[in-house]
Parts: sequence; structure tokens; C-alpha cells
Amino acid sequence: MDVASPLWENVPAATWRDRWRVPDVILLARTASTNDVARRLADAGAPAGTVVIADEQTAGRGRFGREWIAPPGCSLLLSIVLRPGQADLAVRLPSTASIRVGLAAARAIEAGAGVKTALKWPNDLIIPGRGKVAGILCEGSTAPDGDPWVVAGIGINIGQTADDFPEELRAVATSIRRLTGRVPSRAAIAGPLLDALRPYRLRDLRPLQPDELQDYVRRDALRGQHLRAEGESGIADGIAADGALRLLTRQGIRFVRSGSVRPATDSTDSRLPLLQPAGTPPKPEPENCP
Ligand code: BTN
Repeated sequence: MDVASPLWENVPAATWRDRWRVPDVILLARTASTNDVARRLADAGAPAGTVVIADEQTAGRGRFGREWIAPPGCSLLLSIVLRPGQADLAVRLPSTASIRVGLAAARAIEAGAGVKTALKWPNDLIIPGRGKVAGILCEGSTAPDGDPWVVAGIGINIGQTADDFPEELRAVATSIRRLTGRVPSRAAIAGPLLDALRPYRLRDLRPLQPDELQDYVRRDALRGQHLRAEGESGIADGIAADGALRLLTRQGIRFVRSGSVRPATDSTDSRLPLLQPAGTPPKPEPENCP
């Protein structure tokens, strides 16, 4: 059951709404998933830019229905309603929306926490050698009145210590605290994130533009890696304007549009680099989540 919250970071929803220049902000102390709340609102006609934020999710999810776990108050857990104004979501949604939101989140982490952030296709935000710091889950559908919507859910790990992650994730997940020893307020990242998302609230799902592709190139954590995806193995060669991953295979360029990628293990080319660069040792961590 949803538990409403009058404040987030000690500030009421109406103040965030005005500060962020969005039509509405729903603050929840606890919910199953902010994406579920935003989906219901989108179906009921909520305007583009409507924001849902929770302190805690009891059934937060990532791609492929994987769990997204975060202790209360430790993460930015935010979903936003986007209205792309096109009906062919099923064809065009998967990559362009998720990549645009990923670019926006990477810029926000840099602005709010000073941490240079890379993108691992299709939806992971990583700090090379240190682990995944955030994830994006874009879900799209068409409301009963026929208006298509996209809900972009963003989870950014901010205040977690190593112990806050399940043991099996400790080596591959990180947080702003683990990276910098500091805990910025969640609002310090939410503000730049919502600013960066403003142009996309009503933007169609047209192909990625040259400036977006350029930003992606700077942040591309996979370029040059030998990967396996959709049964093909090849060298990652950036993304196409529709958001597909370009894979250079022996048979030519293949475009990967779904699923996930993993390091190729059947390399016949010993010059190919490995997916994970060697990690740098983590800094000592200060105490406790808020
Ligand atoms: C992934 O890495 O697979 C995506 C993770 C997305 C998590 C966020 S947290 C806010 C929103 N609510 C959810 O249930 N999921 C997204």
C-alpha cells in the first residue's frame, strides 16, 4: 500500500513542483514501485512531466523483472511521465527513450555529485572499474484514450555503504558514498536530472540527434569490448541513431536491439580486450544512510 509523505528532503511537494517546473510531484514514504504509481497516473491522463518519488520501494524492479533493492532513504527513486506523442512505441521505445534518460541521469550525477559517469548499453550507469551506480527502466503503453505514454524510472544509489548491498552485488554495485566518501542530498541530483529531462517530456521518439550521439560516445563504457549479444559475438562499436548497439562481427555490422550484453568467452582474437577493466580500491566509507 502506498504511504504518502508530506515532505521530501524536508521540503513539501508543492515547493518541489515549483522549483522543478513540473506539473505535479507525488511524494511517497513507501510504495511497491514508483514506476507502478507513475504508470497508473499516466493511464489516468497525468500530464507529461508528472514526477513520483519514494523514500522506499517494497517491490522496486529493473529490466527483465529483476529486483531493485535500496534501503529506505538511501537512493533517488524517481519516475517521470513522458508523452512522446507517437503511437509506434513498441517499435521505437526500447532504446531511444532509455538512452536519452541515461544521458540525462549521467549529466545529473556529474552535476550533483561530481562523479564522471559512463553508460553501459542499454540502461546501466556505471563508473568504470567501480561498478553500477544507477539504472533506468523505461516502460511504455497507450492510455485508454489512445494517448501513448512512457514512464521513465530512475534509481540512483547515493548513500549506500558496501554493507547495504546484498553480498553478491557488492563487487559490481556502487554508490556516490562509496565513490566519493560524501553523501549529497538526493535533491542535488534530482534537480539537474529533471532539468535535463525537460526537453524530452513531450519530445517524440525520433532518432538520437548528433549532439546526443556525441555525448554517448564520450560516455560509452562498451566501445571496443568483445561482447556476445542476441547470439552474436563481436566488438562493440557505439550505438545507432535508433539506440541499437552496433556490434562488429566477422559477418559485418549487427544491430542489437534487445536483451543484454555480456563479455564474449569464445574469443578467437587474443587482441580483444576484456569487458571489465581492473578496479581501483574503494575509498574508506563514512557511516550510515540518512
Ligand atoms: C535496471 O538497472 O535494470 C533498472 C533499475 C530501475 C530502478 C528504478 S528505481 C525507480 C523506478 N521504480 C522501479 O521499480 N524501478 C525504477
